[in-house]
This record gives sequence, structure tokens and C-alpha cells, in this order.
Amino acid sequence: MTTFVYPGSFDPVTNGHLDIINRASKICDKLIVVVSVNITKSPVFTVEERIEMLKLAIGDRKNIEVTSFSGLLVDFMKKVNAKTIIKGLRAVSDFESEMQMALLNRNLDNDIDTLFMMTSIENSFLSSSAVRELAAFGGKIDDLVPECIADIIYKKLRK
Ligand code: PNS
Repeated sequence: MTTFVYPGSFDPVTNGHLDIINRASKICDKLIVVVSVNITKSPVFTVEERIEMLKLAIGDRKNIEVTSFSGLLVDFMKKVNAKTIIKGLRAVSDFESEMQMALLNRNLDNDIDTLFMMTSIENSFLSSSAVRELAAFGGKIDDLVPECIADIIYKKLRK
């Protein structure tokens, strides 16, 4: 059975993340979406809120699990017995930091590989930080995040 792990901050989940979740879930038996700690970022939403939004956005899908982990991703991979990390790439600008993370993870555990998927072109300009900024100032986010979570985002951020 192939288990893929899709880690990220998901602060909040966007249509770009969902695009990767949909694509990745088609090529594995089980996809684990894991809200992880990125120490270079200060998240706006709590881990619980981010999980709730992911679950609402994904819906009831038998081969997708949503969870969280605080620690090294390679330790989580061992815990769930997975060898493949899924990452989305929007543009060449993502590549440098993603390559660094992939090689750092491989350095920690040579059995683990990172598989990169390109987001669809209509999501290539999208980021969680842009969604947060738009929501904070009352901008339109309906076409950037799943409809069912837009109100949660506005409620938290609108000034
Ligand atoms: O959505 P993000 O913030 O780009 O995701 C980055 C994330 C959370 C996947 C990355 O920071 C991570 O893997 N954090 C867990 C800690 C870890 O294993 N760090 C070493 C790899 S760089």
C-alpha cells in the first residue's frame, strides 16, 4: 500500500493546496495531510482551526486523512510508515527552498523521497498569506479558498 504525506502550514488551506490534494490522492492508496510546524512562520490560525478547515474543504474522502504533527517531518514519516512526501510547486521561485527541504529530509533519512507536483495554472498566483491579507481588508477570497471555509477566514481576520 502506498502512503503519501502532504505536509504544510495550511494557514489557511487554499484552492492551490486542494488542487495538490486532489491530484496526489489519485496516485496513492492513502494521502495523509499533516499540519506541521514551520518555525520560520507565526501562524494566524490555531492547529485545530487549520485541521477543521482542511476537513471541511476535503469532505468525507476514504483515502485522505488530516492530522497534525509537531517535530521533524522524517519522524512523522516513520511513525506512519510512509516514504513519500508530496509538495506543490507554483513557480520556479518555490523551487530553491523546496529543493533545500527535500535534500535536508533526504539527509536525515535516505529512504524518504519528495515528489513535486505542479499546481494548475489558475492557482499559481495563490498563497495563504495573500488570502489572509485580502480577508483582513475585506477583499474577495471566494474564488481562492473553498466556499465552505471563507466565512471562518473572514471572521478571524476581518479588521
Ligand atoms: O506550508 P509550508 O510552511 O511551506 O510548509 C513547510 C513545512 C511545515 C512542510 C516544513 O517547515 C516542515 O517540514 N516542518 C517540519 C519540521 C522539519 O522536519 N523540518 C526539516 C525539514 S526543512
